[in-house]
Amino acid sequence: MTRWWRESLASMRAYSAHGAPPPIKLDANESPWPLPEDARLHIAAAVAALDLHRYPDGRASALREAIAEREGGHPDEFVLGCGSDEVIAMLLTALSSGAVVFPSPSFVMYGMSSRVRELEVRAVPLADEFTLDLDATRDALGGAALAFYASPNNPTGNRFPDEALAELIDGAPETLHVIDEAYAGFADQRTGLFGRENVALMGTLSKVGFAGLRLGWLRAAPALAQELDKVRQPYNLNAMTIEAATVALNEFSPLIDEWVTKVKTERARLSSELSALGHRVFPSEANFLLVDTQGDAEKLAAELREIGIGVRVFANNPRLAGHLRITVGRPDENNALLDALRILRSGT
Ligand SMILES: Cc1ncc(COP(=O)(O)O)c(C=O)c1O
Repeated sequence: MTRWWRESLASMRAYSAHGAPPPIKLDANESPWPLPEDARLHIAAAVAALDLHRYPDGRASALREAIAEREGGHPDEFVLGCGSDEVIAMLLTALSSGAVVFPSPSFVMYGMSSRVRELEVRAVPLADEFTLDLDATRDALGGAALAFYASPNNPTGNRFPDEALAELIDGAPETLHVIDEAYAGFADQRTGLFGRENVALMGTLSKVGFAGLRLGWLRAAPALAQELDKVRQPYNLNAMTIEAATVALNEFSPLIDEWVTKVKTERARLSSELSALGHRVFPSEANFLLVDTQGDAEKLAAELREIGIGVRVFANNPRLAGHLRITVGRPDENNALLDALRILRSGT
């Protein structure tokens, strides 16, 4: 059946979010708060007024303006995608040749999307405490076309300091360095490195309450954004996403900020309670915690799943054996998780 396709696909697995969602879903770094009823109705009315028999605005101008308003910058600096997943795919499609560099462990799509395109992948192991290994990354950047740094990083939760990133960026001027700020809203600080010719930023609405809309973006100098726009599919964003996201950004920005603040408060509480249970919790500037259970994390995740709580394990990554990634939930969800962990611990 697949004889027409790239041979390399045979050894790959499709990205899959596993099975039916558990009642308490702490496995995908989404925002735990549903949109309030009045906000839903507002978005529904805006979507209902769309002319769905027409193609959407292919440039999504109103949405780019709304994103520029929230993020800073000029609308011409933004290229929008169906999630940052599509932005990653666009960047890799635009590459002439050359390797793709990123630290490991990090977001799986950097590697998956590169491998699908048969690009050379250079995944550089993070040093102790998941900091950047500057020497190894510098070596890997030799001749590389593109580098991704998720900062804060998924799944480790830490932010890479600007001084370290700047050293890598300035040492490899021929490489386009993409700083993925998917979780930057939850961090103490955003990167100050935008403005260098070989730096672009990536962002998404997925972690701040609107994962279902599928909207991500690249922010780059207008000339670079214009070039990347050539590989974007026409009408890659559908009219409903464009409308709903524009309304969300223009009218619910204070709500987004409120959600982010609540996640940060809960993150601190969850972290100290998990530590009190004897787990090692890594410092996090994201909306999740990486936890070293110092035990059988897969078994623990399966037991939690039995009682309706989903957390993330990394079965294929020996470096993360024994670790769980737990998305910060609502207070009631976090309490349910902590209660479950206490009960499971006392039962063993
Ligand atoms: C670091 C990082 N970048 C990008 C994404 C993808 O985001 P989107 O939902 O916008 O495709 C994720 C999702 O988990 C992520 O962890």
